[in-house]
Amino acid sequence: METLRIDSQQAKPALYAALTQQLRALVHGEPDTIANLANAASLLFYSLPDINWAGFYLLKEDDMLVVGPFQGRPACVRIPVGTGVCGTAAARRATVVVPNVHEFAGHIACDSASNAEIVVPLMRDGRLIGVLDVDSPTFSRFDAQDQAGLEEFAAVLSSEVFGM
Ligand code: SME
Repeated sequence: METLRIDSQQAKPALYAALTQQLRALVHGEPDTIANLANAASLLFYSLPDINWAGFYLLKEDDMLVVGPFQGRPACVRIPVGTGVCGTAAARRATVVVPNVHEFAGHIACDSASNAEIVVPLMRDGRLIGVLDVDSPTFSRFDAQDQAGLEEFAAVLSSEVFGM
C-alpha cells in the first residue's frame, strides 16, 4: 500500500486535499465497506491535529445510528436519529458544527475529553447512510474549512465506498 505521508501541520485546505487523495488511494478497488471505513477513520485520526475521536455511525432500521469503525475511546453504541449531535446531523441531513458540546442540548458525552465536535452526514442517492463524527478536546476546533474538507471527504466515501 502507498505510504502515508500527510503533513498534519499544513494549511487546512491543503491538508484536506491530501487526505481526500489518500482516501481515494486507500479505498480504490476494495469493495468491503467495513475495511474502507476502518482505514478512513484511521486516516483522519492520525492526520488531523488536535482530535480525540474520529469515526462513523451507520444508519440501521430507519431511525437508529449504530457505531461503526472508529479510532478513539469506546463510544456509545446506539444513537436514535434526532438525538445528540450525531442524531441531529442525521435528522437534518446537514453538517452540524459544535464549538462547545457542553452547550449543545442533548449532546451525548462518550469521552469526557471532548469539547468540540463536527458531524457530517453520509448521503447516497438522496438517502442517509450514516454520519462521520470527529471530536476535539479544543473548544471551537472546527471551522468552515474543516467543514468543507470533511464534507469533501464524506462525498468521496459516498461515491467510492457506498457507490460500489
Ligand atoms: N457526542 C456524540 C456521540 C458520539 S461520540 O462523540 C463519539 C453525539 O452527541 O451525538
